[in-house]
Amino acid sequence: MINVIGLGYIGLPTALMLAASGNEVVGTDLKKDTIEMLNKGQIPFEEKGIPELFEKAVNNRSHFTTEYQKTNMYIITVPTPYVRASKKIDPTYVQASINSVLDVCEKVAVIVVESTVSPGTIDKFVKPVIHDRGFVLGKDVYLVHAPERILPGNMVYELRHNSRTIGADEQYAGEKVKEVYETFCESEIVITDIRSAEMSKVVENTYRDINIAFANELAKIARSDDLDVYEIIRIANKHPRVNILNPGPGVGGHCISVDPWFLVGDYPGLTNLILTARHVNDSMPEHVLERVHDIMEEKGLTDLSKVGLYGLSYKANVDDTRESPTLQLLENMRKHLAPELRVYDPYVKTKIVEKQYFDFDKFIDDVDLIVIMVNHDHIKEHETQLADKVILDTQRALENTEVYYI
Ligand SMILES: NC(=O)c1ccc[n+]([C@@H]2O[C@H](COP(=O)([O-])OP(=O)(O)OC[C@H]3O[C@@H](n4cnc5c(N)ncnc54)[C@H](O)[C@@H]3O)[C@@H](O)[C@H]2O)c1
Repeated sequence: MINVIGLGYIGLPTALMLAASGNEVVGTDLKKDTIEMLNKGQIPFEEKGIPELFEKAVNNRSHFTTEYQKTNMYIITVPTPYVRASKKIDPTYVQASINSVLDVCEKVAVIVVESTVSPGTIDKFVKPVIHDRGFVLGKDVYLVHAPERILPGNMVYELRHNSRTIGADEQYAGEKVKEVYETFCESEIVITDIRSAEMSKVVENTYRDINIAFANELAKIARSDDLDVYEIIRIANKHPRVNILNPGPGVGGHCISVDPWFLVGDYPGLTNLILTARHVNDSMPEHVLERVHDIMEEKGLTDLSKVGLYGLSYKANVDDTRESPTLQLLENMRKHLAPELRVYDPYVKTKIVEKQYFDFDKFIDDVDLIVIMVNHDHIKEHETQLADKVILDTQRALENTEVYYI
């Protein structure tokens, strides 16, 4: 039996996929309401394909509990936030879950840490917990780091089709975990050592952050000189070895906006490019506000209360709002004592900001200027309703309406 620890955006799809693929799985989370929901057949967040997977998994006898299970294999998918002041990882969730595993596990157990960790975390913060509890690594307990790279909005497909990395310092553990992932993963499964696995995961997200930052910096350069950044990128990308991304309102989420900080925190003298990219991406919500200011001036609009932000999540077609550019923008305004803007997101069903709408038509009625912060399919489906609005389209979401760009 496999005990998956932490049933959030990563843990729940992983547990369901494992169960739907014939493994006996128990999902454990400390949050009682999450477990109650799951046991009633409700899924705590929206994600394409999860309801179908859930049905298959539950038919295959998977279940959910707040208790850790006595077994010989654990997959840990708890949060790994960073400490804002030091930019270093907060390993306490992983350490707590390892401690709870050691309270109950069988004599020989494999513990897979899927949570993203900064390079060196397993050596510095996880192995000592195991030693201090009197367990011998490689004899009583095997540690594996298998970072996850699935994309919210496409998780079920990517669980099956993405290549995976297994970091293991003993071949036995690497092969054992590979056998489990092979029950659903149809792509290459690479086995490496733990430190390389840690580093490669953080490097992947940092690469994305830097590439996005380049596009965002180009957008600012083009704006300052009255050039069309999309036209420049379109032409530059005709070069066979150039592939510039599109600019946007900033970078949010739990991975790309967080993981580069792990490198900055751990290698402060060596991360100039990485740090600058972080600053560029973090400056984009402010740039969006400047654009709003300029557009209002150009259009003779004076009432800030008639400006609405469309989208609260950090990416299209998901409800995850962690570190989202819209939240960053509102935080920025709050710091300057500016009044809150009106906000609507079709995916976000609970109130998390002051002037949040749950009715799109009402939101549209109440605003003159709409800032499209997130490229949800929903906005494209409702494009005709925006005909008489001033629009700042930070995502280049709309095709048939006249808009301003960032
Ligand atoms: N969300 C993503 O897109 C994504 C992608 C790749 C990797 N990751 C990484 O995966 C890890 C999990 O991220 P997430 O987005 O699923 O987080 P999440 O916050 O959605 O879920 C984590 C869950 O762990 C539970 N939890 C916390 N401490 C626990 C404990 N001691 N025992 C049992 N349960 C506990 C929480 O209640 C929560 O439900 C992080 O390290 C993240 O960086 C996330």
